[in-house]
Amino acid sequence: MAIRNIREMGDEVLTKKCREVTEMTPRIKELIEDMLETMYDANGVGLAAPQVGILKRIVVIDTTGEDPYILINPRIVETSGEQTGNEGCLSVPGKCAVVTRPNYVKAVALDVSMKEIEVEGTELLARAICHELDHLDGHLYVEKAEGPLQDVHYDDDEEEEEE
Ligand code: NI
Repeated sequence: MAIRNIREMGDEVLTKKCREVTEMTPRIKELIEDMLETMYDANGVGLAAPQVGILKRIVVIDTTGEDPYILINPRIVETSGEQTGNEGCLSVPGKCAVVTRPNYVKAVALDVSMKEIEVEGTELLARAICHELDHLDGHLYVEKAEGPLQDVHYDDDEEEEEE
């Protein structure tokens, strides 16, 4: 496993549409392991493959720090409600902005065995699923930001999550 370099806003790779994964290979397994290590090292709650320069439809998400979701070729099949709150991204370090997202999201994806799985979540998990899937189509949360980007202040009580 290795920590990979996280690409930052302005890098063209973050604007591209990613390709579907058609078969699991040792190389993709290694990529997923590296994505997890890179996400945890950066204290993120999610990471998408293009953020490490790979244009494949793979995201990892861990909003609890206990059990990561690995989602291959994910797509959202159901949403409901609305939440408005601060959002950050490991590719836009030190910044956050207010973004409105669905409060409930259901997605289907493949796991590392290429078996279909269903993931549903509310609040932070729902936000993270939307945020990470946007990366796979070349979109950053800043496009949806309501108001200007703010500097993240780590010294207050509110914890900021970067995705
Ligand atoms: Ni992000």
